[in-house]
Amino acid sequence: MTASAPSLIFFFLALSALSSICNGAESTSSGLAMNFYKESCPQAEDIIREQVKLLYKRHKNTAFSWLRNLFHDCAVQSCDASLLLDSTRKTLSEKETDRSFGMRNFRYLEDIKDAVERECPGVVSCADILVLSARDGIIALGGPYIPLKTGRRDGKKSRSDVLEQYLPDHNESISSVLDKFATIGIDIPGVVALLGAHSVGRTHCVKLVHRLYPEVDPSLNPDHVPHMMKKCPDSIPDPKAVQYVRNDRGTPMKLDNNYYLNILDNKGLLLVDHQLAHDPRTRPFVKKMAQSQDYFFTHFSRAIALLSENNPLTGEQGEVRHHCNLANRHHSDE
Ligand code: HEM
Ligand SMILES: *[C@@H]1O[C@H](CO)[C@@H](O)[C@H](O)[C@H]1NC(C)=O
Repeated sequence: MTASAPSLIFFFLALSALSSICNGAESTSSGLAMNFYKESCPQAEDIIREQVKLLYKRHKNTAFSWLRNLFHDCAVQSCDASLLLDSTRKTLSEKETDRSFGMRNFRYLEDIKDAVERECPGVVSCADILVLSARDGIIALGGPYIPLKTGRRDGKKSRSDVLEQYLPDHNESISSVLDKFATIGIDIPGVVALLGAHSVGRTHCVKLVHRLYPEVDPSLNPDHVPHMMKKCPDSIPDPKAVQYVRNDRGTPMKLDNNYYLNILDNKGLLLVDHQLAHDPRTRPFVKKMAQSQDYFFTHFSRAIALLSENNPLTGEQGEVRHHCNLANRHHSDE
């Protein structure tokens, strides 16, 4: 038994090397592939693209949500659509934790799922719909087209218990942010590019007021403070009131490199945004991205692809959910 173990290992290594050669360039060791549904549901990617476009026409902010979903799902251990699950009697869902504050439009993701289910019931995972909707949302916002692999399966449970460990917070140090992204293979320019997502959307006052009250953070651009104070007049914002500041006042609906100009001008809303422009490890990349949209898009595309491939469930792992907010029922659970 012990004597045969090394040769057994060698055998499996050789086998997996062989199979990756046979599958050619389209497949990776992750088990994901370009156009994974080309036989099982050839229209899948077109249906998702059409739905994202339709929803964007009606509600522009859906595109922000698709982009933010990718971060909140994939950065927490795996792109497995665990973010989309509802709470159960036993567990609080990720989307209901404090860290998902402000996330919206989940019900419209169900519309995309329903459209896909009508054509190909039970085939396309919510994890892939989440990733592809982010890709199409990026295009709606004027960002680059990013080819992304598919073949992810859906997880069966929420990962809210480990969320804090994986998901960087608004006031975290750059060291800690870089560490967290490094564990999923995203390097410094990749992190700087991903934060460029804060070139669209909004930030609620609860995440900002500590930079305004009791004293104004002296590192904030004084020209930006009156606007922030007007939008967030109370030091303890009413949690029921929808009070927020737009992330990028200049081009709020465009995914562009204006974010980098803002943060270099000390108009970054979150502490992490501000620090990104001032930490010696990240500042050189912030400057380059402020100068060149192409440079930003190149690194953004690369980093989004890496994020989307973080530790997916593939093959027989997990399941393909019927509804994105509910794990399928299994006899053992009842
Ligand atoms: C250190 C990492 C990050 C932190 C601490 C962070 C934190 C935040 C916070 C606090 C908000 C405001 C939410 C609200 O008040 O409604 C926000 C908004 C947003 N974030 Fe991030 N974020 C990070 C990285 C990312 C990444 C990597 C992406 C996508 C690739 C992203 C996409 C977005 C988008 C699109 C919004 C606007 C959402 C909307 O308007 O609905 N963020 N982020
Ligand atoms: C960061 O902000 C949260 C509230 O959003 C707070 O609970 C936490 O203590 C803060 N962490 C640091 C390191 O300041």
